Amino acid sequence: MNIKDALKFCFLVLLIISCRNKEAQQEPSANTVKVEYYSEAYRPQFHFTPEKKWMNDPNGLIYNDGIFHLFYQYYPEDIVWGPMHWGHATSEDLIHWTHKPIALYPDEHGYIFSGSAVLDKQNTSGLGTKDNPPLVAIFTYHDSDAEKVGRKDYQTQGIAYSLDNGASWTKYEGNPVIGNDGIKDFRDPKVFWHDETKQWKMLLVAGDHLQIWNSSNLKEWEKASEFGKQQGAHGGVWECPDMFELQIEGTDETKWVLLISINPGAPNGGSGTQYFIGDFDGNTFSSDQKSNRWIDWGTDNYAGVTYNNTPQDDRIFIGWMSNWTYADDTPTEKWRSAMTLPRNLGLQKIGDNLELISYPIENFEKVVTKGSKKEVAIEPAHKEVIPYKGLQQSDLRFTTSSRDFQLVFKNQIEEKLIMSLDPKRSEFLIDRSRSGKIDFQEDFKNIIKMPVDNLPNGEIEFRIITDRSSVEIFINKGQYVMTAQIFPNTDYDELVIANTSDVLMKLYDFGIGEVEGVW
Ligand code: FRU
Repeated sequence: MNIKDALKFCFLVLLIISCRNKEAQQEPSANTVKVEYYSEAYRPQFHFTPEKKWMNDPNGLIYNDGIFHLFYQYYPEDIVWGPMHWGHATSEDLIHWTHKPIALYPDEHGYIFSGSAVLDKQNTSGLGTKDNPPLVAIFTYHDSDAEKVGRKDYQTQGIAYSLDNGASWTKYEGNPVIGNDGIKDFRDPKVFWHDETKQWKMLLVAGDHLQIWNSSNLKEWEKASEFGKQQGAHGGVWECPDMFELQIEGTDETKWVLLISINPGAPNGGSGTQYFIGDFDGNTFSSDQKSNRWIDWGTDNYAGVTYNNTPQDDRIFIGWMSNWTYADDTPTEKWRSAMTLPRNLGLQKIGDNLELISYPIENFEKVVTKGSKKEVAIEPAHKEVIPYKGLQQSDLRFTTSSRDFQLVFKNQIEEKLIMSLDPKRSEFLIDRSRSGKIDFQEDFKNIIKMPVDNLPNGEIEFRIITDRSSVEIFINKGQYVMTAQIFPNTDYDELVIANTSDVLMKLYDFGIGEVEGVW
């Protein structure tokens, strides 16, 4: 090659490199962008989070045509709550999600607060056709200007429809479909089709109680009944209702379950979700339940609701993994908060009680690599220390008949997340007071308590799932559940199991599963 050719060659190489660099700058591949945000501090690796900015309640949970939709309360401008939009993501398995453009923007009627979505199969609304039935979203309009000037009627209900399986949405021109007669907190419509009465049912919360409304076309609504002024927990406003029928496992009998989130007034402070087991006659819900019951005793499972239109009629629940007490203050920078793992709900008779069970969906197993299972025996008043690098993103399981032990997730700087089962008080406790960053809010260090007074005797499963900044605990396959956020300064990498009893403790099928990231 002569000098001229060599120069030409060099020039060509430089040109190609510079073009490549330019391409790389202009169009980062989807993968690079994703991997980048998944490496942000505290970013969960297998729980749903928004790409950036603020998220709260799950909304419009619906399955249609092979796709699970997840809409959510979203503020695209900041990492604190603000004018609400509906963000949107889709999934085929409820584990791997694809982010979609914002589905609903605020308009002249107000911000878009929480709500639900239905498939209007018969086109009762006339918003689609019989051949292309519409998805209809039903949500609350929140008029912040009206609120600011002291009016009480600032929340009304609106609808929007999609004819392309959720890709684009049109607001109904006759909005709002339900006005407001002066009820201050009047929101969070959950709509479902009720086959026996051939009607749409809407659950709405009105301050301290539930209202049930009927419609034949999703546009005109009539109030049918009320529930709850004198029942259940009332430490705060009622929010985000849901109601569905479940078969009691092992029987032909069914019961209706009503979910009501309240804030504040949860047993461990701030936000929480109570449930009622009862009957629904097509117009009225009734329950003779005496005690207050909670779907999750942890501090961080709020505003959760279930999917409409699932393939096998499964009852799949997703909650917002935060608490209004400190939601605005948690130590993340680019995005705020995650959803719980999707959980299957069921009803079981345990002892004399009917209990609502919630347990991670079967699909979650796809991303868990099962570690080898073994038997572990710990002498009375002894502990077993297990170093394990992946403890911050793991699925720990074992069965035991012991009811007297402590589990500690620890890191190299002596931060500890302590969980203990105390048989004397029949309580399961989470102590996150030394778990990492805790001082962004005063109450975050409080011990979280769950009464476990109806645990059956014998071997039961304990399952603890961690994902960077969260821990989800399922005892006896979801009879008792706790969800909590944690913010350790470095990863936990040592598990300590302490036998606090005076008899030998045996753990069967003990294994720590590794969980894959879902990007
Ligand atoms: C529950 C809630 C709902 C409301 C939404 C507003 O967390 O307060 O009642 O619709 O959040 O973002």
